[in-house]
Amino acid sequence: MRQLIRGRVLDFHADPNETADNHRFWEDGAIVIRDGLIEAVGDHADLAEPDLPEIDHRPHLIMPGFIDPHIHFPQAQVIASWGAQLLDWLQNYTFPEEARFGDPDHAARIAGLFLDQLVANGTTSAVAFCSVHKTSAEALFTAAHARNMAMVAGKVMMDRNAIPEVHDTAQSSYDDSKALIEAWHGKGRQRYAITPRFAITSTPEQLAAAGALAAEHPDCHVQTHLSENLAEIEYTLSLYPKARDYLDIYEQNGLLSDRLLLGHCIHLRDREIARMAETGSRAIFCPTSNLFLGSGLFDADGLRDAGIVSGVATDVGGGTSWSMLQTLNEGYKVMAMRGQKLHPLAAFHWATRGNAMALGMEDRIGTLAPGSDADLVVLDARATPAMALRSERIRTLSEELFILQIMGDDRAVAQTYVAGVAQKGPSDAAIR
Ligand code: GUN
Ligand code: ZN
Repeated sequence: MRQLIRGRVLDFHADPNETADNHRFWEDGAIVIRDGLIEAVGDHADLAEPDLPEIDHRPHLIMPGFIDPHIHFPQAQVIASWGAQLLDWLQNYTFPEEARFGDPDHAARIAGLFLDQLVANGTTSAVAFCSVHKTSAEALFTAAHARNMAMVAGKVMMDRNAIPEVHDTAQSSYDDSKALIEAWHGKGRQRYAITPRFAITSTPEQLAAAGALAAEHPDCHVQTHLSENLAEIEYTLSLYPKARDYLDIYEQNGLLSDRLLLGHCIHLRDREIARMAETGSRAIFCPTSNLFLGSGLFDADGLRDAGIVSGVATDVGGGTSWSMLQTLNEGYKVMAMRGQKLHPLAAFHWATRGNAMALGMEDRIGTLAPGSDADLVVLDARATPAMALRSERIRTLSEELFILQIMGDDRAVAQTYVAGVAQKGPSDAAIR
């Protein structure tokens, strides 16, 4: 099946932090989709064909769908839990909530609602932590596969320091992860991430099991948390007294590589930064979470200058918004507090091609390059009265993007396409 999507089309081919030649923009642009893949992108006048069905989103912007590289599927009902920093927040709110995912019916219900929230916010791919229960990962993969949505996910491995309802063992976490990899990794658009939650909730035996899985499945991602909160770091080092630093715990278990996604990375030591750069390990910036939990200010420019590739993510439910627009808004403010600038072109590159590169998946998602999966977001910078009022003064594409970045949320997402299929109800697009 072929169709043409018309609008004001934006696509990045390089990082705006590195080069001025970083994007292409077609004021009257078009994307031709064939069987869920992008066949061509360019001027509408060049791509229109008499019998090709068209959906006209003008005057809205069309770009690759957002990618959220760090989000917790069982925390949809944890967002906005009051008054705690990380360790208390986990014990008081998060672990009891995740315990509910032992019930497959609950997991299936939330999986559907989780994907609904992603697409409502223009997010077409995510890297998700599931609960400790194998069934929670099965529920998420089943729902994402049914929608043909690219999901990277894994059940968390956690065998101590939580509550018994969310504990596995080193052996069962290995066995369950292995079975999930065999069932789901590479099935359609699903990919598996080996997911030791963080060093505090894993025994040395369990981290060794995670290392064994990573060695046996080098094409799987590995995701965990690193240096989010000062009390977390102190507790972690007390549990692993021989470690040179927090990163060393993961390093000693063979987990460092360009497939490793490390959530937060706020309070890093110089050796950790150097080792992350040498091994290609990724840092994932979670601004709404870092502000909400009072964790600290991510050093985006410092890590880039050190040669580390970063992603930017919501971290729902420590994060307070499903919206990558709101995530970029808070990211701008965190960077401002450090005297750094998040330019709107860099911000939208980060949430699309940048995150795809952090995942090593830029050949499939994150750009409009022909052959990529047709995952798209359609954005309306005049979605609310306040945005429309502000937009009267737009002079440039960057100004329009910045209004979306600072004032936008799910209301600014006019449509989302996953593998070429529209996900939102009737939009204001013209169909012919
Ligand atoms: N560290 C370990 N688990 C979590 C979690 O669920 N959320 C956040 N923000 N940090 C963590
Ligand atoms: Zn997290």
